[in-house]
Amino acid sequence: MKGIIASAVLASAFIAAPVMADFELAKKSGCMACHSIEAKVVGPAWKDIAAQVKDRDRIVNSIKKGSRGNWTSVTGGVPMPPYSPRVNDENIGKLADFIMSLN
Ligand code: HEC
Repeated sequence: MKGIIASAVLASAFIAAPVMADFELAKKSGCMACHSIEAKVVGPAWKDIAAQVKDRDRIVNSIKKGSRGNWTSVTGGVPMPPYSPRVNDENIGKLADFIMSLN
């Protein structure tokens, strides 16, 4: 019984660790000043982005170069600033995968 519980705990830690690392990266990169996973803040909820945008290249480009006009009905037209080269391409890719995984 103890063994079963221990391996269940280990398994969930194993799954959660990369997700936590990506969330930490999002916090460190400043994204959470304007976004949350579940709800609109200044920018749209990341769950809503994941549900509506299936194009990874678009998400990567929006993080690199900023975004404007895609979410006007949600945000009232506030633009998102560009993040390249403040955030490097590898980490932008990780953030895009993380956002897309939230659907
Ligand atoms: C200053 C506020 C602000 C910050 C900081 C911010 N965003 Fe945004 N974000 C926005 C707004 C506003 C929009 C909606 C833009 C639009 O209407 O096209 C948006 C939209 C997006 C989109 C959707 C783009 C699309 O093509 O539809 C993604 C993905 C995104 N943000 C990711 C990020 C990531 C990752 C970070 C951190 C590196 C970040 N945002 C930081 C305000 C912000």
